Amino acid sequence: MIPLARPVLGEAEERAVLDALRSRQLSLGPRVPAFEEAFAARLGVAHASAVSSGTAALHLGLRAVGVGEGDEVVTSPFSFVASANVILYERATPVFADIDPVTLNLDPDAAAAAITGRTKALLPVHIFGYPADVPALEAHGLPIVEDACEALGARHADGTPVGGRGHPAAFGFYANKQLTTGEGGMLTMASAEHKQQVDSERNQGRAPDMGWLDHDRLGFNYRLTDVACAIGLAQLERLDDMLASRAQVAGWYRAALDGSPVDLPCDDRGGDVRGWFVFVVQLPRGLDRDGAIRALLERGVQSKPYLPAIHLMSFYRELGHREGEFPVCEDVAARSIALPFFPEMTDGQVAQVAEALDAVIRA
Ligand SMILES: Cc1ncc(COP(=O)(O)O)c(C=O)c1O
Repeated sequence: MIPLARPVLGEAEERAVLDALRSRQLSLGPRVPAFEEAFAARLGVAHASAVSSGTAALHLGLRAVGVGEGDEVVTSPFSFVASANVILYERATPVFADIDPVTLNLDPDAAAAAITGRTKALLPVHIFGYPADVPALEAHGLPIVEDACEALGARHADGTPVGGRGHPAAFGFYANKQLTTGEGGMLTMASAEHKQQVDSERNQGRAPDMGWLDHDRLGFNYRLTDVACAIGLAQLERLDDMLASRAQVAGWYRAALDGSPVDLPCDDRGGDVRGWFVFVVQLPRGLDRDGAIRALLERGVQSKPYLPAIHLMSFYRELGHREGEFPVCEDVAARSIALPFFPEMTDGQVAQVAEALDAVIRA
């Protein structure tokens, strides 16, 4: 069976975990700031705060820019549900805008049209690791919180790493991500004030220079353990190799699927560079996707529908959303499947997936 995803973990991670265990400092220890500093340096950004998940990073990022009850946040409906849920956590309203059919990211014109007097922030998602057009969104002068959970290693056309422009930007370290700590996340940001607020709020609102149980604001337990940060540090060391391997696998897929009726992920355009996260193709219209996924499984290939449109999930329908609101997103979401994709995938496995897909589409 060829799995959908598989992390690269080796002796460096094993040693790092053992060292952390032997230090007896499992939380609030030195590996947390060490991981934060190494991560921030890699992105060329002033600050980073390690947190327990990408969702936690997004949530604290929104709070840092002041999103609260009654505010609107313009965002993409073609994302993992967390990027919209965090807006609801603060009793604000996610205002979806349709996506670009090529990059699958928030369409800057649609986003502009969705801005109202109540818009407090914009929340672009760098979906599937492809850079969202943050430079175009910056023209509105509104706070931006970036969902870079899928986009470690991506770059904007001007050379800035995705997540390195200074806006609060959230990264996720779940096991299928470019870098994993099992579960975990990081918020990068330029503002020292934001960093102070985030560090307090991830730790139950603890006051920065006061005693253990002094809490001067509402907070959460969004801390990341030292063991997780130790894994993160070891993963950072091998990140360039893992990103290069992912790009190589993507290249093999492109060659193997040349001439296939599926739509492939877009090529890098205008100087933007994707940080490869998943290999998602769109099946031809009219093909039974669930049937295709079952048939692929029978041929030893895992796949899954990825991603469903957020506004059409039952929970969001209860908020009043309906089919037809965001036609580009709905068309893409109905046809997308993620194929197996991980750094240690071989060209033989890619060929096996491509052959299976071809056979399933022809059947
Ligand atoms: C686009 C996007 N946003 C947010 C998240 C949430 O990250 P986590 O699962 O670490 O909370 C993910 C992770 O899957 C994601 O892909």
